[in-house]
Amino acid sequence: KRALILVGGYGTRLRPLTLSVPKPLVEFANKPILMHQIEALVKGGVTEVILAVSYRADHMEKELTEQVKKLGVNLIFSHETEPLGTAGPLALAKEHLIKSTDPFFVLNSDIICDFPFSELAKFHASHGKEGTIVVTRVEEPSKYGVVVYDKNNCIQSFVEKPQEFISNKINAGLYILNPSVLSRIELRPTSIEKEVFPYMAQDQQLYAFELQGFWMDVGQPKDFLTGMCLYLKHVRSTDPEMLAKGPNIVGNVLLDPTVKIGENCQIGPNVTIGPGVIIEDGVRIKRSTILKDATIKSNSWLESCIVGWRCCVGKWVRMEGTTVLGEDVIVKDEMYINGGQVLPHKSIASSVPEPQIIM
Ligand code: GDD
Ligand code: MG
Repeated sequence: KRALILVGGYGTRLRPLTLSVPKPLVEFANKPILMHQIEALVKGGVTEVILAVSYRADHMEKELTEQVKKLGVNLIFSHETEPLGTAGPLALAKEHLIKSTDPFFVLNSDIICDFPFSELAKFHASHGKEGTIVVTRVEEPSKYGVVVYDKNNCIQSFVEKPQEFISNKINAGLYILNPSVLSRIELRPTSIEKEVFPYMAQDQQLYAFELQGFWMDVGQPKDFLTGMCLYLKHVRSTDPEMLAKGPNIVGNVLLDPTVKIGENCQIGPNVTIGPGVIIEDGVRIKRSTILKDATIKSNSWLESCIVGWRCCVGKWVRMEGTTVLGEDVIVKDEMYINGGQVLPHKSIASSVPEPQIIM
């Protein structure tokens, strides 16, 4: 079994993190987003994963080859010389996708859910048409690809980012497609959502598989944090032993074993802390992600923040409102930051009371 993951694009909506690391490699719950997906694919019986890459591919190739060694899956990098959108990469990787007549999975690289690959493959085989897309329900469908389908789950229409309300069922960014779909795709920059799915729907060749459980596109900071909360809740119900316990811990918290936490801290609910992080005494953190090797000095208070790799947050700091610190940012003692997006390697020496980008 094969899968292709769309790993291109610039990840601009997840800046400033993606100024240092490509979006699929940013750690979500202490693991690169892409590794959540590859591990789920391997569980679903996939043995070959094609990564369609267009941007900062060398960094990605080194890092991932290392990480997947233990999974025993064959990784193929399909390099674009110009970004080919969401459909073009399938045409580029055609030789790999037609090695067998079996259908293959396609994934967006920024979505997180309880990946239903085996059930998806079963449903796809049961209707016998060219493609099946996973769908989920959201509050704000205009940010996504919206689908309308009949009682047999045959999709009648697919509209990418509609201006007007059509339905709240959306494309979750996971597909299974027969190799025959490749004859609908030209080798040029082209969008599967605009130039392929609407026509497959017209031909009654596209079906919807309804996702159970949580789902989130974590490609922007606000959704990244919301997705983290949903993911930790899911971990609580499936692998509670992975979550932290102790007098400093409140609710669902994921700690790397190397994290050092001082006295009189209160961490959680909904916090993930990566390897090498140091949390000094009296710190309060909720609904936040702290990435590798960051330090949070004593008596700071953080809510709804993403703290980048190797950052140093000073004493008595207060940060909130979806504040995102890029790699290696220094926040001086006693600063207040509300909704700041701070570019890598900056030093913050005056407070940021209103949301803004700090360059
Ligand atoms: N290889 C390659 N080349 N990949 C690309 C390119 C490219 O030129 N452009 C985008 N991608 C990848 C992104 O990395 C991401 O994994 C995926 O294609 C989708 O791109 P996004 O930029 O994240 O799209 P979106 O979030 O606005 O919308 C898509 O996802 C929604 C679900 O999260 C669409 O598929 C929507 O229909 C869907 O609802
Ligand atoms: Mg996305």
